[in-house]
Amino acid sequence: MTDQELVDRATEAMKYSYSPYSHFRVGAALLAADGCVYTGCNIENSSFSVTNCAERTALFKAVSEGVHDFQAIAVVGGTDGDRKDFSYPCGVCRQALTEFCGPDFRVILGKADGEIRVHTLEELLTGSFTLREVLLHEDV
Ligand code: THU
Repeated sequence: MTDQELVDRATEAMKYSYSPYSHFRVGAALLAADGCVYTGCNIENSSFSVTNCAERTALFKAVSEGVHDFQAIAVVGGTDGDRKDFSYPCGVCRQALTEFCGPDFRVILGKADGEIRVHTLEELLTGSFTLREVLLHEDV
């Protein structure tokens, strides 16, 4: 799976964005270690704080199917889905990804003109908070 292919999957997923309040549509495609892709979109709610971001939709779909090992996530977004600028994962999504993904996990951002930017999760959430090594057994 190339970065461009993963961005394309995120762009497809953005079609399902439910964003009647912000009109900011986001799509994500999460690549698992075994090569499977889990997609997600943002899902808004009239009680705004209930809104779920595209990245967490994809992550929670995968985890709810027993998948915990991931390579990369592609994210696209924009007002009415224009993908004019890179759409970065919010802080909550960075933290959610950190629960399951290591520092070298790749975050791939795409935009409409075809430009792709790649970050590691460590770059986006330096010195992140985790209790994983302390509280959990290695096999979880
Ligand atoms: N959003 C995402 O889906 N992912 C992010 O990382 C940032 C924000 C969504 C939430 C809301 O539906 C819209 O973008 C505007 O904040």
